[in-house]
Amino acid sequence: MDIFHIEGPVQLSGVVNINGSKNASLPIMAAAMLAAGKSVIKAVPYLSDISIFGQLLGQLGCKIDRRPNGDLCIDSQVIDNPIGEYEVVRKMRASVCILGPLLARCGRVEVSMPGGCAIGDRPIDIHLHGLSELGAKIHLKNGYVVAEAPKNGLRGKDIFMGGPFGSTVLGTANVLMAATLAKGKTVIESAACEPEVVDLANFITKMGAKIDGIGSPRLIIEGVKQLAPAEYQVIPDRIEAGTFMVAAAITAGQLQLVNCRLDDMMAVVDRLRNIGVTVEAANGGCVVARKGSAIKPADITTQPYPGFPTDLQAQFMALLSLAKGNSVVIEKIFPDRFMHIAELNRMAANLRKEGPACLVAGVKKLIAAPVMASDLRASAALVLAGLVAEGTTIVNRVYHIDRGYEKIEEKLNRVGAKILRQAV
Ligand code: EPZ
Repeated sequence: MDIFHIEGPVQLSGVVNINGSKNASLPIMAAAMLAAGKSVIKAVPYLSDISIFGQLLGQLGCKIDRRPNGDLCIDSQVIDNPIGEYEVVRKMRASVCILGPLLARCGRVEVSMPGGCAIGDRPIDIHLHGLSELGAKIHLKNGYVVAEAPKNGLRGKDIFMGGPFGSTVLGTANVLMAATLAKGKTVIESAACEPEVVDLANFITKMGAKIDGIGSPRLIIEGVKQLAPAEYQVIPDRIEAGTFMVAAAITAGQLQLVNCRLDDMMAVVDRLRNIGVTVEAANGGCVVARKGSAIKPADITTQPYPGFPTDLQAQFMALLSLAKGNSVVIEKIFPDRFMHIAELNRMAANLRKEGPACLVAGVKKLIAAPVMASDLRASAALVLAGLVAEGTTIVNRVYHIDRGYEKIEEKLNRVGAKILRQAV
């Protein structure tokens, strides 16, 4: 178990390279199983979530090979054990996105129910609704979802995939993947429009799928008999980019982010500019700075894309805890995603949860303290707070951060942070 010792306050300045997107890589790795053969996925980050998912694909029968140049080769010629074991799924609930491809490819799949996690319940009822609309027979057996396609295969259908939260990212991914090999046409209404879903759709289009409406809430898929392996480069990670944008803002520094798509981040850039942070496009990335101006309070409500992403809520809360005034942060995607409140308050923030909202009363400074990481984004928020808190902040359970950020302390130290990783 590693911990971080973070010296503060510091002011960051320099260049940060943003990695490929974790949340695009995972469903794309699953989608490679829609075809028999070798797909090559480029720019996949080195993260524990990725290696856990690679182990799962290996258990299913795939051969996974990470080449010296970083390319991830997935040989899905043989899938001889379409079962997602509890031991893996409990560690990484995104494993549920093997449901769609394996149902379409093998006609039968078992996946352990994911259970909850630090950010709340993680139901998959909408995933299962969509797959059963395509003809799958689904039942629960000892905590596993068992899904079986009809003898003559899945059949396309018009499917409403909206839910109480508007849309589901991995639910859309599962149904989209299954529909590509179903007979006939499928319409997915209220599909998630996140850039990571667009990336998945672009990858399976390269495999030979026929998809219209990519990026819109209505996807129209014409089923095909077979797909072929493909080579693909995943998009940059907008959540890692947003996290470093906050790092520049919270330390009143300036960072140039390389390999970052501002087009995917308009809601985030809007809030940063509202807070008094400058964001300028620069050679395929951007420069983010807060030069001496005060952090202005701002209200944030998390929503499905193109709204403000829930995965940056905790990081922005750390930033707003130092604003000159009061802000309100409303979490509409995961109403319990507030594990970071208690930890930031230990650092002298003044945060109060009121149902799905958090009232953020800006304070003049944060004070270093030992804090506990929980979900990977809340953990990143604690690191950001530690950069400016007076003294040495100790962040425990750093493995949460390693799930979603590749060597975050090395990247931050290269631009002026003073973070020591210690194995305990
Ligand atoms: C994806 O999770 C991301 N994970 C999450 O990022 C992200 O926070 C989330 O989308 C929202 O953007 C990956 O892509 C691997 P959802 P996902 O289904 O697909 C409810 C991170 O930090 N819901 O869009 O699981 C659900 O409970 C992770 O990288 C149902 O009710 O999220 C939630 O309230 C954390 N029934 C809301 O919908 C369902 O069947 C949105 O969840 C499915 C979801």
